[in-house]
Amino acid sequence: MSKQRIIAIDGPAASGKSTVAREVANRLNCIYVDSGALYRGITWKMLCDGVNTKNPLLVLPVLLKSKWKFEVRDGAVVFSIDGVEPGEALRSKEVCEAVSDIAAMPGIRKFVVNRLRKLKKLGPLSMEGRDIASVVFPKTPYKFYLDANPEERAKRRHAELMAKGDLEQAAEVMESLQQRDEKDSTRKAAPLKVADGAYVIDTSRYDVADVVRTVLDRIADLEKPRSEAMINPRLYRATCDVLGLWLKVCTRIRVLGLRNVPKTGGLIIASNHASYLDPPAIGAFCRMRSVHFMARDTLFRKPLLGWHLRRVGVISLDRERGDVRAMKTAIHLLQGGAAVSLFPEGTRTMDGNLQPPKPGVGFLVAKGRAPVVPVYIHGSYEAWSKHSGGLKRKPVTVIFGQLITREEIQQLGSGRDAYARIGELIMARIAELKEQFEKGLIHE
Ligand code: DC
Repeated sequence: MSKQRIIAIDGPAASGKSTVAREVANRLNCIYVDSGALYRGITWKMLCDGVNTKNPLLVLPVLLKSKWKFEVRDGAVVFSIDGVEPGEALRSKEVCEAVSDIAAMPGIRKFVVNRLRKLKKLGPLSMEGRDIASVVFPKTPYKFYLDANPEERAKRRHAELMAKGDLEQAAEVMESLQQRDEKDSTRKAAPLKVADGAYVIDTSRYDVADVVRTVLDRIADLEKPRSEAMINPRLYRATCDVLGLWLKVCTRIRVLGLRNVPKTGGLIIASNHASYLDPPAIGAFCRMRSVHFMARDTLFRKPLLGWHLRRVGVISLDRERGDVRAMKTAIHLLQGGAAVSLFPEGTRTMDGNLQPPKPGVGFLVAKGRAPVVPVYIHGSYEAWSKHSGGLKRKPVTVIFGQLITREEIQQLGSGRDAYARIGELIMARIAELKEQFEKGLIHE
């Protein structure tokens, strides 16, 4: 995950968002931000300075003169105003009563929104509030809205206050919650509402652990690579056109058995590997669907090539270290219904013969839960092998074999031994295609 995560969690008072945002921050190594604390901080400052908290004309000049300092402590943002940290005073009865008026002032909101946006430079954030997904970070994909029925929220807030020994506030809890809800959702400036695209969770009947799990699952889901997001369709088609023409001219390529390739659903296209010609020989003629290939990460470092590979959906692979990330990407793509091409032998053959499968192949096939089309490519070794040092004008034939179904793969069981058997089955099907082709038994 290279992009910085900004997790926006909004909702009414006592909906559980503080506890959830804090725990999510903890689990994902983000910095927790309680945005309401800034509105409370301003309220506290005004009360300390004896400023009328209902009058924006008096509040704003004092605010603009104040000096704010932010820092991260124990995974959360804390701040001081003019050198003093308000701390527990932010939760005092006086602050609670006046904060809704302060939070309704457009000038104040502008000030707070700016400060909140700047916190991004501290690192990934899990921020809770009322307008985080709608106003502060509307572009973040991680938007959540937590809600709970008023009785449940009153019950939670009551328990919280009793635990603190605050009996006076506990008695009025329902009424004050209702007043605050009303003010927060009817004010003109950034009223509390569900942001576009926010994931709504009703927490009334769930405990914190369930809600946190739901949030984490949703984030994981949003981060799954999506085929459409990785492939630029026009560039992909143009690349196929150019490479297809080049292969026709240079190798008089023949492609057989394309009817064996399903048009939709997760699919693995598994081929023998003898040459740099193999990926384009498969991809350029499989026109019924786009295919993701894998390529060495070093190729992605070449400026133009790297740019191009990324836009045609190629997955970067660190072959030296056995790339877990590439594996995960491929599995997510397969589970999401995309086609992924792989070479079970791992690397190009040295002598033109088929090689045994690499151990990871069976794992990928089992976890991707997709059927496999075995492919035999004939002639690419003669046309451009590891030793030949360049392209020779030799004929190439690509044969797409009959589908190995998911059921056939599942019958091989699970676990390490089964993964080995899956790899062997695929190579055996490729070997059958080779034999049939060499005996002249395959015609279109
Ligand atoms: O979440 P809290 O109770 O600490 O919030 C205090 C007040 O600030 C409350 O009236 C809602 C308001 N607020 C807001 O308007 N926007 C936010 N992003 C956070 C809080």
